[in-house]
Amino acid sequence: MPEKIKEVTVYAPATVANVVCGFDILGFALSEPNDKMVVRVSDKKGVTIINKDKYNLPTDPAKNVAGVALLALLDALNGEVAGFEIESTKVIKPGSGIGSSAASAAAVVVAANQLLDNRFTNEELVAFAMCGEEVASGAKHADNIAPCIYGGVTLIRNNDPLDIIPIPAPPMYVTVLHPQIEIKTSEARGILKKKVAMKDAITQWANVAGLIAGLMKGDYALIGRSLTDVIVEPMRSMLIPRFKEVKQESMKAGALGGGISGSGPSVFMLSKDEVTAHKVEAAIKGVYDKVGIDYHIYVTTISDKGVRVV
Ligand code: HSE
Repeated sequence: MPEKIKEVTVYAPATVANVVCGFDILGFALSEPNDKMVVRVSDKKGVTIINKDKYNLPTDPAKNVAGVALLALLDALNGEVAGFEIESTKVIKPGSGIGSSAASAAAVVVAANQLLDNRFTNEELVAFAMCGEEVASGAKHADNIAPCIYGGVTLIRNNDPLDIIPIPAPPMYVTVLHPQIEIKTSEARGILKKKVAMKDAITQWANVAGLIAGLMKGDYALIGRSLTDVIVEPMRSMLIPRFKEVKQESMKAGALGGGISGSGPSVFMLSKDEVTAHKVEAAIKGVYDKVGIDYHIYVTTISDKGVRVV
């Protein structure tokens, strides 16, 4: 009998949630950046966390998104495994708006599942990881976790019970601006209005439908004109310096469209090809060089891969 594997290493991608018009229901995976996590079966009860990066995240598993996600999975095992040890090397900066907490939570549950001969379905893994996401944002949303685990573009049609629908999409490049300020998801959710006018709801669901149709048909123009958000962006964009200008200049440079990534502060712009994505990068640099805050900008693609086991 081959000896059972005791340790698994995974890479979990950054993700863009909301995709402008689909607040809490749409997301996609990025090819870069990725977090690295090692998960081991441990004789020690519960979850032990070892941080191997500079971010100083809590090592108390009850306060750590990866810890909470893994505790939820452990709970479902009814004592079969005493515990897990996580070695966390985060590259995706916490609070950046590109699914840092989701990457941690998704990574560890996929790794643990591998150690358990993949007994849980992807949907079950998303549900465990969502418990972790709740710690970070105060809400159980799956729009970063689902694409992080499934890869590609995902629609979360329903949260409880989970109904996750992978949406085929044509190849696209993504230019991501990450201003080096932190916006807490819980706070960015707190500023949202609790009620929506019927007129705005109609505009919004028309755009969500348009975006899904555009993605499935590979219709870039339809994708572009559906990237409109009349509900969340008007409020959240105030938290991001020069948001309007970034968007305007990106569109002039040929972007299909874009907006706030998740709850910000990152901003993403989609392009049909790499040359345009770099033109968009230059246009954003032109705006942000004058802002006076540090920023990071990169060009990547929508990835059809979720968490990768190596
Ligand atoms: N849908 C969530 C929000 C994503 O916008 O609050 C957070 O990354």
